[in-house]
Amino acid sequence: MNRPRVPITTDAIEAAQRLRNGGLVVIPTETVYGLGADATHVNALERIYAVKGRPVGHPLILHVADTETANHWADMSHPAAQTLALACWPGPLTMLLPRRPSVDDIITGGRDTVGIRVPAHPLTLSLLAQHGGAIAAPSANRFGRVSPTTVAHVLDDIGDILDPERDLILDGGPCDVGVESTIIDLTVDPPQILRPGGIPTEDIERMLGAPTSAPQGPSRASGMMPSHYAPATPMRLVDDRNAAATAAHGINAVVIDRTDDLVDAARHLYDDLRAADQRNADLIIAVMPPPIGLGHALRDRLTRAAAGRDQAHPNQDDSTP
Ligand code: TXA
Ligand code: MG
Repeated sequence: MNRPRVPITTDAIEAAQRLRNGGLVVIPTETVYGLGADATHVNALERIYAVKGRPVGHPLILHVADTETANHWADMSHPAAQTLALACWPGPLTMLLPRRPSVDDIITGGRDTVGIRVPAHPLTLSLLAQHGGAIAAPSANRFGRVSPTTVAHVLDDIGDILDPERDLILDGGPCDVGVESTIIDLTVDPPQILRPGGIPTEDIERMLGAPTSAPQGPSRASGMMPSHYAPATPMRLVDDRNAAATAAHGINAVVIDRTDDLVDAARHLYDDLRAADQRNADLIIAVMPPPIGLGHALRDRLTRAAAGRDQAHPNQDDSTP
């Protein structure tokens, strides 16, 4: 007997209804799919952690329709917050800002900052407009796997865990950017880039007219540990195409090399990793993109994916994957 499957729809009104009733809604964004809950619905927020298998204390990003709504949840008065919101939203930038009292502790893991962004996907913007509030959403993958960029990835990871009676998947097609949002902490001076992502650091520094710094101190974005999604297949990073050919010689290897087009590389990264892992190869060989533009985010994710194989405790992290 077939178990009922969670509904998949493009109906934002139905999705808003399910959120109001305390269900989880998988939302398409320009970066990756998110597992969303109404930010005021504590039971639904708790279910996010259960469905993902994610330890509590890893904070969630809030998604809102516009800058004005963001100001209900985060203190947007910082001049840099205004500048970046104007330049980047809707888009793949998450800002860490002082939280408002309306933000539940389960969203921030008890921190005094909250991560917030306006995602650039028409279906989710329509859902957010219907909803009027904030949707808390981590990436819609099981803890320790790479983020999903298609509904098929979501179904692979959590399709059987979602509740067909309460939950819903909003199908927005394949994600356009393909890597998660850039996270910038504006509560420190200079601002810190906690996670390179869809908006390159160089662009942000140009918008701010000032430099940013790399993360310092003990793991400021909780969960930003070196090991990440570990493909079951061993993975090696190489600097160029020739090195990939040499490494692949005489063995059954899958080579990931999209260094000619970084936009395309980001869009396909997680699908490439999932597909490579299903090929039963001896080795996945990935050519590292240059450290420019989206290359920063790509290098970060590839390094974490490869590090997982060598760590004493692989798969403990969900910072990105
Ligand atoms: O593109 C994205 O950002 C996607 C889409 C769905 O919006 N979301 C996403 O969420 O990647 P998640 O939960 O998989 O990764 C968010 C990261 C986690 O490492 C989390 O610990 C960190 O952001 N984070 C969120 N709020 C934070 C806070 N207040 N302080 C420190 N780190 C925070
Ligand atoms: Mg994630």
